[in-house]
Amino acid sequence: MRTAPGKKLFIKTYGCQMNVYDSQRIAEVLAPQGYATTEEASEADLIVLNTCHIREKAAEKVYSELGRLRRLKQLRARNGGSLAIAVAGCVAQAEGEEMLRRAPAVDLVVGPQTYHRLPRMLARLEQGEAGVVETEFPAEDKFDALARTPERQGPRQVTAFLTIQEGCDKFCTFCVVPYTRGAEFSRPVRQIEAEAMKLASQGVREITLLGQNVNAYRGLDDRGRTVSLAALLTRLSRITPIDRLRYTTSHPRDMDEDLIALHGENPKVMPYLHLPVQAGSDRILKAMNRGHDAQAYIDLVAKLRKARPDLALSGDFIVGFPGESETDFEMTLALVRDVTYASAFSFKYSPRPGTPAAERDDQVPEPVKAERLARLQALLDRQRMDFNQACIGRRMSILLEKPGRRPGQLGGRSPYLQAVHAEARGHVIGDIVEAEIETVGANGLSAHIRARGDDSRPRHRVATEGAAAL
Ligand code: SAH
Ligand code: SF4
Ligand code: F3S
Repeated sequence: MRTAPGKKLFIKTYGCQMNVYDSQRIAEVLAPQGYATTEEASEADLIVLNTCHIREKAAEKVYSELGRLRRLKQLRARNGGSLAIAVAGCVAQAEGEEMLRRAPAVDLVVGPQTYHRLPRMLARLEQGEAGVVETEFPAEDKFDALARTPERQGPRQVTAFLTIQEGCDKFCTFCVVPYTRGAEFSRPVRQIEAEAMKLASQGVREITLLGQNVNAYRGLDDRGRTVSLAALLTRLSRITPIDRLRYTTSHPRDMDEDLIALHGENPKVMPYLHLPVQAGSDRILKAMNRGHDAQAYIDLVAKLRKARPDLALSGDFIVGFPGESETDFEMTLALVRDVTYASAFSFKYSPRPGTPAAERDDQVPEPVKAERLARLQALLDRQRMDFNQACIGRRMSILLEKPGRRPGQLGGRSPYLQAVHAEARGHVIGDIVEAEIETVGANGLSAHIRARGDDSRPRHRVATEGAAAL
């Protein structure tokens, strides 16, 4: 059964980049049902919350949002209208049916591997079924269905995410992802190349390959041979309009020699790597089940920097994992000093239901976690500022992505993923320009464009508010 055309869909996305990718796919899956996206929840016929379960706060946010939506739904009903509410993503996967009990406003609960079935689920809802839940695995069906979904014509993007791998078999003892995303699954090479080519034809110049363990990618090519991430990146780098490739998130255990070497060999692979270590104490790394010690990580970073000396590193850290002593924590600080990061994310350990670490009785008190987090973040902030300061006077390529803060400016990213803005006379969004970094501010770097980086290539002109005025 088809929904009448002209309906409005509002999607709110929480969590990681893969949820951002999934939200775009959800909009594509629902477009043939007559749903156009809106930025206004108040005018939507269907609201999808694409949720994250990684830390307690992330999950709680969803329930408070559902409280607000319940009032919107009641108001709508009083006015003779209707509103359907769907919860997608990792909270949906983790809680399933339970969500319907905890948040009665919810009509649909759909996991990260089943959202391609949303049209069918909506049809069931329209036929009078109350509370439709679909949270099965695996991921194959989803990607096959998505590959058949027609693309939507939206505004031109110059950067895009592309999921190549999903799920996780690592089972770090603090983490819900193996339970919410399921087992590791790699998409076939052909499917990824087709999607990358489609993005390129739409004007995309930078693709970030996504996976919970992206460097564990082992996809099959047409002849049934296994292709590594390094080989996949090499193949994608042959798509001419794609100038920049990134990938995230990598696990230190899966960083193979070919991938390390590729950073020194392929100029389209950007000199930036998100490589979480979580902690600097071997005792804690072991208790986390990370599968490597601190020295192995430091050695890996040294190899990467040998291959690509200007590589900018980013990481994730957890403070206050159960049993973490002051000495353990200081080892994290020591590792950070040793490695030096260009940017990083750091979190207080959050016990997650069903994970082994949550069961431990040596939980670290909240004030201790807060104090350690503040010390770690002060160090990481200093390193980020030092990294940015060291860029002053350097020339680098900037991909112009969006209107800048002031008229005449465009905003973009450096190879090291820094936000950069520049006076961009004569340039448009989608251009890659050579620029000299002049100042460092709270919201990023400012640069002076020296010369056109890509005069020899056809330029895709797009009209956007900021760019149109240039
Ligand atoms: N697959 C990635 C990380 C996915 S989750 C990897 O293996 O590195 C993103 C980050 O959230 C993790 O790197 C970790 O730092 C943090 N995180 C995960 N579970 C957490 C928890 N229970 N408490 C606090 N932070 C957590
Ligand atoms: Fe979670 Fe560890 Fe898997 Fe990363 S590798 S998703 S932190 S279990
Ligand atoms: Fe969150 Fe799920 Fe991503 S728990 S971080 S949305 S994989």
